[in-house]
Amino acid sequence: MDARQLKIEAAREALTHVADGMKLGIGTGSTAEEFVRLLAVKVGEGMTVIGVPTSERTARLCSELGVPLSTLDETPRLDLTIDGADEIDPALTLVKGGGGALLREKIVAAASARMIVIADASKLVDTLGRFPLPIEVNPFGLRATEIAINEAAARLGLDGPLTLRMTNGEPFVTDGGHFIIDASFGRIPDTRALSDALHAIPGVVEHGLFLELADAAIVADADGVRTVRA
Ligand code: A5P
Repeated sequence: MDARQLKIEAAREALTHVADGMKLGIGTGSTAEEFVRLLAVKVGEGMTVIGVPTSERTARLCSELGVPLSTLDETPRLDLTIDGADEIDPALTLVKGGGGALLREKIVAAASARMIVIADASKLVDTLGRFPLPIEVNPFGLRATEIAINEAAARLGLDGPLTLRMTNGEPFVTDGGHFIIDASFGRIPDTRALSDALHAIPGVVEHGLFLELADAAIVADADGVRTVRA
C-alpha cells in the first residue's frame, strides 16, 4: 500500500466517528485532506455536518467539495476535531505545524470535546523531536525571539539550529500573519517543560507541541488500521 492509501485508510476509519449533526474541527495537511474528500462524499449523500477549518487551505478544499463551513466565532464549541500530525508519541503528545497551521489547529482542537489524530505509522515515535519543532513567532523582534528560544532550550539541555521557514525566497507567513521557526532540538524528553518555557517568551505566539489534546490516534500501516488511545 502506498503512503497516500495509508492516509486514506486512516481517514476512512476516522469517518466512522462522525455522526449526523456534528460540529467538526477539520485539520490541515495531506492526511486531513483525505478526510475532507471522504467527508464530502458523505455530505453529498445527505450527512449534515458543520466544519470549522484550521487553515485557509482547508477552507478552500472544503468549499470546493461542498462541505458546509462555519467559523469558530459562530460555532465556538465543537464535537470532534480530526487532524493529522507530524509526530505522535505513546502518550499521544504530538508535534504539529509541518503545514504551518499549528496555531489555528491548536485553537480548534482546544475548542473540541474530542480530537482524533489520523496518520500513517511513520508518524509514530518513542520520543518526540526527530521532526523539527515548528514555533510560530511574531515577526517583530525576530532576532530577539530566536535568542530567547535558544536560551530557554539550553536551560533544558536542548540544543540545535533554528531555521526560519522560507517559501519562494521569502519568510513563510502563517494564516495569522506570523513567521515559523523550525527548531531542530532532537529528542525532547520533557515536552511540558519545553512547552512552558516557549510560552514564557513574548515573541512566541504558539508552538507545535500538542499536550493532552488528542484522545485517540488512528494509525494505518501495511497490516491495517489501529486505534491508539492515550
Ligand atoms: C499542519 O500544520 C500540520 O500540523 C499537519 O497536520 C501535519 O503537518 C501533518 O501533515 P500531513 O498529513 O501532510 O503529514
